[in-house]
Amino acid sequence: DASDIEKGTYPHYMLKEIDEQPLVMRKIIQNYQDGEGALEIDSDIVKAMKKADRIYIIAAGTSYHAGLVGKQFIERMAKVPVEVHISSEFGYNMPLLSEKPLFIFISQSGETADSRQVLVQVKEMGHPALTITNVPGSTLSREADYTLLLHAGPEIAVASTKAYTAQLAVLAILAEVTAKSRGFAVEFDLVKELGIVASAMESLTDSKEAFEDIAREFLTVTRNCFFIGRGIDFYVGLEGALKLKEISYIQAEGFAGGELKHGTIALIEQGTPVIALATQDFVNLSIRGNVKEVAARGANPCIISMKGLETDEDRFVLPEVHHLLTPLISVIPLQLISYYAALHRDCDVDKPRNLAKSVTVE
Ligand code: G6P
Repeated sequence: DASDIEKGTYPHYMLKEIDEQPLVMRKIIQNYQDGEGALEIDSDIVKAMKKADRIYIIAAGTSYHAGLVGKQFIERMAKVPVEVHISSEFGYNMPLLSEKPLFIFISQSGETADSRQVLVQVKEMGHPALTITNVPGSTLSREADYTLLLHAGPEIAVASTKAYTAQLAVLAILAEVTAKSRGFAVEFDLVKELGIVASAMESLTDSKEAFEDIAREFLTVTRNCFFIGRGIDFYVGLEGALKLKEISYIQAEGFAGGELKHGTIALIEQGTPVIALATQDFVNLSIRGNVKEVAARGANPCIISMKGLETDEDRFVLPEVHHLLTPLISVIPLQLISYYAALHRDCDVDKPRNLAKSVTVE
């Protein structure tokens, strides 16, 4: 439907796509529910997940970052070991495979050449493959044994936003259904929790001024910016850094809080912005310790925490969602901060220099 890809009243596709995320969540829940409202995945895919002794997630860019979070979902809920690999590395540097691997290709476009190369290789080796994509009939979808769709609608902006959160939601559903089929109780109601996520997303997309203020204050003149977090917050930080560099051309890097002292802290200067995520109870104190370390060296910290874990020093407090699902909402401030940083710096938000939406060459 052509009207699906109109910008409407939005100045940029990226902003429109950020705003669509609550709707996409609801669409995904609907599409993956059976008649009774329970989550459902094609039974052949569930069988393949059950048979696998190890899962290999292969992806590039933002989809790779979704894979890192997906590993947490699958390992914690379904208790199957998962490795996550960058597609352009995997082909040349293949790890020792387990006896019964299942490959999951995550690709918004379903056309990324680096990922396709790996798919061709593993199919030649006779291994099963599942593609998680936004584009039905895409190359990776056609060539894999199984497909799960994101139902995110066309994503036009080069910087991926709604596809990332859709990938996370579908991976969570896959993890939950696999867990149940393997006889593991999932101690929370994922349908309900994803509904809470959708509402939380709405409250964030309604708070745009807060993120525009952060972008103005922290990112108008800087040449670099760091994102820190621990556990899944670290992975979201990687995605936040990618968003910021893609569209604002600010040199941005994501780091694990504990790793800072092993090198990166040398880069901290007077005024260096450090965006810290604090959504996980068990590392709340340690990430705040890392913030103190960088602040003592002159950094300008911006803490984004989750309700229940906040302190007076925090710049923004996220609405509470299930602790495993925080990446679905903590990424939204980072998307919006990047958007406004790029806007304030007069960058071409939807079509950043040197980048393509889907990279169909090696
Ligand atoms: C390109 C895009 C990125 C995207 C990556 C993977 O580099 O610029 O935004 O994350 O490809 O794309 P895919 O379609 O495979 O998810």
